[in-house]
Amino acid sequence: MNLDQLNQVAVAMVAPGKGILAADESTGTIKKRFDSINVESTEENRRDYREFMFRTETAMRDHISGVILFEETLKQKAADGTPLAKIIEDMGSIPGIKVDKGAKDMHAFPGEKVTEGLDGLRERLAEYYELGARFAKWRAVIDISRGGDRTMPTYGNLKANMHALGRYAALCQEANIVPIVEPEVLMDGDHDIDRCYEVTATGLKMLFQELFDQRVALEGTILKPNMVIAGKKCDRQAGTEEIAEKTVKCFRETVPAAVPGIVFLSGGQSEAEASQNLNTMNAAYKEQMPWGLSFSYGRALQASALKAWSGKVENVPAAQAAFSHRARMNGLAQLGTWSEAAEKAA
Ligand code: 13P
Repeated sequence: MNLDQLNQVAVAMVAPGKGILAADESTGTIKKRFDSINVESTEENRRDYREFMFRTETAMRDHISGVILFEETLKQKAADGTPLAKIIEDMGSIPGIKVDKGAKDMHAFPGEKVTEGLDGLRERLAEYYELGARFAKWRAVIDISRGGDRTMPTYGNLKANMHALGRYAALCQEANIVPIVEPEVLMDGDHDIDRCYEVTATGLKMLFQELFDQRVALEGTILKPNMVIAGKKCDRQAGTEEIAEKTVKCFRETVPAAVPGIVFLSGGQSEAEASQNLNTMNAAYKEQMPWGLSFSYGRALQASALKAWSGKVENVPAAQAAFSHRARMNGLAQLGTWSEAAEKAA
């Protein structure tokens, strides 16, 4: 393990004004996205879709520090034969790879899931490094009970997921790959913001205990959490100031200062909400945060671009413009200089 190299990559992932594009939708998820625009999910369509994003100069050079890829994309070549990972590198951005095998039902805790994919991971990581990946991602999914019931998440479910994240992170660092550790507390459901706070804080404390127990170097690790936010079906939706205040407070209580960066998932927030909330945190609390605070959005970077593209080559310029706009808005949010006026001036 080369800790200097890991730290350099981690720091570059949260460079000022930049963040991560999560383009690592699994085969099932990308099919859902393509269904929404009536495009068939063929290997070629998936390639064309991702290729136009990676070739969007203004977005990639100025605002996208790294791209999380699905294995297929890491091994895929552009229409002209250039490996897609090379296109990303040529834009000054870092290729990364989703390595988990998805969240599976956990028999002992009905309704809860644990993420699988540790078997054979050491060998896969060595291969991904050869293919150019310098960071990886593993997503754990934590669900909160509905209707005020406090059963979920169970301790056993949190423990199993955080333990797997620790094992994954240690294997990544052995292979000189920066682990993004992603314990996602879902925003599905009707819980309020304070319940999200409680679950997120408990999960993060357990996660960092696991990382410590398994000798993971925090200087070479990136955290990818949810924001502290009310469930989508909660009657009381918190405003951006409350989300920012509670999210930053939660991280200050739980995330060690040695972690170079925290990059959010968007988790179902709209594109503008995801930018605004990140902006509010960086605008109001930058001096109180020892880590870089940025984005690693999937839907909140791609939704408009996906719609503009709709599977047609003649729409690529419009789709690239939409992607550029979202990349710039989130870049501004990383600096704390996003505004509604900039948002509207598409
Ligand atoms: P969303 O931003 O669409 O939540 O996706 C980010 C991600 O990588 C989830 O694992």
